[in-house]
Amino acid sequence: MTEYATLTFEGKTLELPIVTGTEGEKAIDIRMLRQKTGYITFDPGYGNTGCCKSAITFMNGEKGILRYRGIPIEELAENSTFVETSYLLINGRLPTRKELTRTSVMLNDFSLVHEDMQNFYQNFPRASHPMGILSAMVNALRSFYPELVETDEQTEMIFLRLLSKVRTMAAMSYKISRGHKVIYPRPDYTYCANFLHMMFDTPVKPYVIDQDLVRALNVFWILHADHEQNCSTSAVKTVGSARANIYATLSAGIAALWGPLHGGANQAVVEMLAKIWKEGLSIEEVISRAKDKTDPFRLMGFGHRVYKTYDPRAKIMKKICDRVLPKLNINDPLLDIAKKLEEVALNDAYFIDYNLYPNVDFYSGILLRAMGIPTNMFTVMFAIGRLPGWLAQWKENLDDPEQKLCRPRQIYTGSNQKPYIPIDDRE
Ligand code: SDX
Repeated sequence: MTEYATLTFEGKTLELPIVTGTEGEKAIDIRMLRQKTGYITFDPGYGNTGCCKSAITFMNGEKGILRYRGIPIEELAENSTFVETSYLLINGRLPTRKELTRTSVMLNDFSLVHEDMQNFYQNFPRASHPMGILSAMVNALRSFYPELVETDEQTEMIFLRLLSKVRTMAAMSYKISRGHKVIYPRPDYTYCANFLHMMFDTPVKPYVIDQDLVRALNVFWILHADHEQNCSTSAVKTVGSARANIYATLSAGIAALWGPLHGGANQAVVEMLAKIWKEGLSIEEVISRAKDKTDPFRLMGFGHRVYKTYDPRAKIMKKICDRVLPKLNINDPLLDIAKKLEEVALNDAYFIDYNLYPNVDFYSGILLRAMGIPTNMFTVMFAIGRLPGWLAQWKENLDDPEQKLCRPRQIYTGSNQKPYIPIDDRE
């Protein structure tokens, strides 16, 4: 039985239907609001606005809950692989062993990139940021694979091709930026092992796969795989709603993720920690600056639009750092600084009052440093992880009969009508 919210203003009363989600979340359906009242709602940043119904990811920001297709992130991080989790997000269920094997084989089959693409890389200035290169190269993929998404079989092929090639392109970008020989994927390696192989193997010193790092990379990408309607996923859905091709659509998502308030925060966190260490800044001084409203400095890796408690992914990331770094005999001073910052911040009234806790980006860069990933590639690593989420959300949006072209409204605050003034009459 449909519940209603009653809106009364200007002597009018409007009954608006209530939408209820499977976890009891509630929304007021305002789709008829403007047509019936001439009014729109006003919600900069969309903090109170639901853009869709989705069955992919559930988050509870107050309780720090994150589930992909109903499965808790903690259980996926413990038991799953990135390829299996990608299948789960995209197809809505865990694969059978046969389906997982077929998916892994297809990912390996698609792991090469057209040789002509290397010419593109050669023409980027050496100092180009890997996220700018990745966004451009994903868009360029359309030129090599022009087919449109018409059938489910094509969708699966395009999705797996993207999951595989974007990983290859990221490693290629790294090798070419260093003037090193591009290393090709190996058919006998798994998805994550192949990435480490393509990144760190060299003709003179073969890279020995470390299974602890392979496991850590699987978990890193599982933790980043989806996060419901975040900024970059919203960019993907907005561009996708115009029926732009999937490559241009993902390129937009990569561009949005690059922002330091979003996925770019993992690079900004490590740069912040490195500055604290290099300049010998005190924790108290850093915390004081983060609280100072006259200072643009923010404690990067802290705070979240949805989580008003500890980001469950940050908890898992911190545990991996504590497990992997000692195994690699790495004693990273930045990890110690991060832990001290967290301890002081979580006991400070400002952070408590604003519900500011570590988010996924606070410890992720420490792990990537331990793997040998260069700092300017941290957000590329986030993008590879977020690919299955972007793809799953994009497809769900296109398949949703209630969805249409994204086109928000506005409240105009500019000049009222005024005449054109010829240039000779202007002061
Ligand atoms: C990601 O949406 C997602 O799901 C994103 C993500 C995903 O997986 O896709 O989880 C990934 O983007 C994580 C967030 C990474 N970004 C950072 O770590 C950058 C630092 N954090 C902030 O800039 C901020 O917390 C945001 C952008 C993440 C969230 O900001 P909101 O929700 O827009 O809140 P806000 O900026 O309005 O802050 C509320 C108050 C403000 O004080 P007032 O102006 O109201 O007095 O809290 C303060 C802010 O100044 N505040 C901070 C702070 N974050 C918020 N103060 C100091 N340091 C911070 N980090």
